Formats: sequence, C-alpha cells, structure tokens
Amino acid sequence: MSVILRPARSADLPAVVALDHEAFSPYGTAETPEVFAQRLAVFPTGFIVAEDAGEVVAYGCGEKWRDLRAPAMNEDPATSHHPDGVVFCITGVAVRRSHRGRGLGLAVGERLLAIAQAQGCRTIVLETTHAQGLWERLGFHRAGERTQNGVTLTIMQRDLD
Ligand SMILES: CC(C)(COP(=O)(O)OP(=O)(O)OC[C@H]1O[C@@H](n2cnc3c(N)ncnc32)[C@H](O)[C@@H]1OP(=O)(O)O)[C@@H](O)C(=O)NCCC(=O)NCCS
Repeated sequence: MSVILRPARSADLPAVVALDHEAFSPYGTAETPEVFAQRLAVFPTGFIVAEDAGEVVAYGCGEKWRDLRAPAMNEDPATSHHPDGVVFCITGVAVRRSHRGRGLGLAVGERLLAIAQAQGCRTIVLETTHAQGLWERLGFHRAGERTQNGVTLTIMQRDLD
C-alpha cells in the first residue's frame, strides 16, 4: 500500500460521500452530500483525503469556530465556520473498511491536528460514537456525551500549545 495524504478536490466528493455512508450509516450518523460540498467550498484547507492507487480510501475534514460548544451533525458550514475562529472542530474522519487497522486513521488525525495548529487554533473538538480509543491515542480526552436522533456521541477535546 502506498498511500498519500493530500488536500481534497471537488472531484473527490462522490468518493468521500460513499466512504462516509459506508462508515457511518451503521451508526445512523452519515451526513448529506450537500454538507460535504459546502465544507470543501467554505474551508478547503481543512479537508484532506488519503489516496491509494488513484482511489480515495480515507478523508478528514474540519472547520473553525469562534467558541467552544458541542458539535452537531449536518451543520451548515457557511454559518458555523469562522476564518478567525480559534476552536477547530473535526467534522468527520473515516477510513475505507478495506484499509483499516494500518494506521491511516491516526495519520489523518495527525494531519488535522497539524492543520489546526497551523491555523492558530487553541482547542480541537469532535464527537464519535465508538472511536474514542483513536482520539485518546492522539491526546484527546472525553469532555462529555450527547444524544442526537437516538445515537449517543462522546465529545472528545484536546488543547493545543
Ligand atoms: C475509526 C477509524 C477512522 C480508524 O481508522 P484506522 O485506519 O482503522 O485506525 P488506525 O489503524 O490508525 O488505528 C490506530 C488506533 O486507533 C484506535 N482505533 C482504531 N479503530 C478504533 C475503533 N473502531 N474503536 C476504538 N479505537 C480504535 C486504536 O487504538 C488503534 O491502535 P491499535 O491498532 O494500536 O490498537 C475507522 O475504523 C473508521 O473509519 N471507522 C468508522 C468511522 C468512524 O468511526 N470514524 C471516527 C469518527 S470521529
């Protein structure tokens, strides 16, 4: 496997949406194609993909907020993202099933941390149904829990230096 991480492009969006569906529909937390297109349009710096032999095998995306709060699904980035925000919200990370367990999730997470730092953010927040272990390995702690559409989500948080 020779995987590269690179900024996402609009041509990647159908593959990202398919990957999101594969990863999150079992948990009832897949998001809409429109919200992914908006994220890329509004803050392309915060949207990366991993490519293996020309195929998108993982993605990660985030946006900047002015204040720390709990994330929510399908938020409109046109209103939630603020270029001068100091809170980086990781809105989604997923690895294609065939490529899991080889460190790609960690690599995508580390790249998003580096982007958040380069963007001058002070705190990173995200929520997850079951991947708490991945984020704990990246220095996050459990900051709370919430329920949306009957799904329980853990809020994970990490401060940046
Ligand atoms: C979670 C996910 C991104 C992990 O991707 P991956 O490439 O398999 O992860 P890695 O190989 O980099 O794993 C690194 C570490 O993360 C942790 N981890 C990985 N998958 C995990 C899971 N499902 N639950 C808990 N911890 C997990 C483990 O500690 C693992 O270390 P180990 O292999 O030494 O035990 C992937 O399973 C996925 O896309 N799942 C569905 C979508 C999802 O839950 N995304 C995260 C939402 S925030």
